[in-house]
Amino acid sequence: MAKIVGGVTTSHVPAIGRAIARDLQADPYWKPFFDGYAPVHQWLETARPDVVVVFYNDHGLNFFLDKMPTFAVGAAPQYSNADEGWGIPQLPPFPGEQDLAWHLIDALIGADFDLTTCQEMVVDHALTLPMALLWPDQKWPVRIVPVCINTVQFPLPSARRCHALGEAVGRAVRSWDSDQRVLILGTGGLSHQLDGERAGFINKDFDLAFMDSLVHDPRWATQFSIPELVEKAGTQGVELLMWLATRAALGDAVAEVHRNYHIPISNTASGLMVIEPRG
Ligand code: DHB
Ligand code: FE
Repeated sequence: MAKIVGGVTTSHVPAIGRAIARDLQADPYWKPFFDGYAPVHQWLETARPDVVVVFYNDHGLNFFLDKMPTFAVGAAPQYSNADEGWGIPQLPPFPGEQDLAWHLIDALIGADFDLTTCQEMVVDHALTLPMALLWPDQKWPVRIVPVCINTVQFPLPSARRCHALGEAVGRAVRSWDSDQRVLILGTGGLSHQLDGERAGFINKDFDLAFMDSLVHDPRWATQFSIPELVEKAGTQGVELLMWLATRAALGDAVAEVHRNYHIPISNTASGLMVIEPRG
């Protein structure tokens, strides 16, 4: 059966794409952010994933406000990046892992999750930039299965439901009849709000408590309603739902391998964690 080798959770911000394109990794503004990924590169050398299941939220590239699935799984042979209108260079396409995708879709629909299945899908900065942070040469050594959670148009799925989705994804991956090594990647957050009266809002205390909870009390965030999460983490900070699903996929006990937290990158409190399943 397939093995989950670990989880990586990271913020995604379009400005990272511009920094990569302009080689600004050592620039004083960017260094504390990019330096956080060196231990991840080391960890990946031993973790050696073949496949990455990516929890992320599309921002209007593949799904627009007229048609917005709550949960969607990609089952495409390949995923291209496309113009998001931010002026960031497009990254090379990502090969899809279709066998796992259909196994996940069967298992999740079998577990009463009403999914949208996507046999064609373009991917935005929330998938491409974390992949480029993990593999800076952009020669992807892995195949991917994208899992989208709507955090863009209300109503959003609850933290409780996203945790349950993560658990179901974990069970499905572990029951995949394959010897492949699977990484779970969750992108978004941490606290940020891009618009409205509280534009620029960041909540360091909440972010740090949330990161701690993923190790010691992984259901902690499920006590909060979506409006409560927006209040604590900002309108776009609810992207932390991807972190919650990622953690849930890893099973009961985990060990924290690495973390980085830096304020701000663009308007966002940027966070990064590597967690391994234990037991
Ligand atoms: C920013 C953050 C995001 O999560 C995003 O999707 C777009 C922009 C920002 O901080 O600029
Ligand atoms: Fe985002």
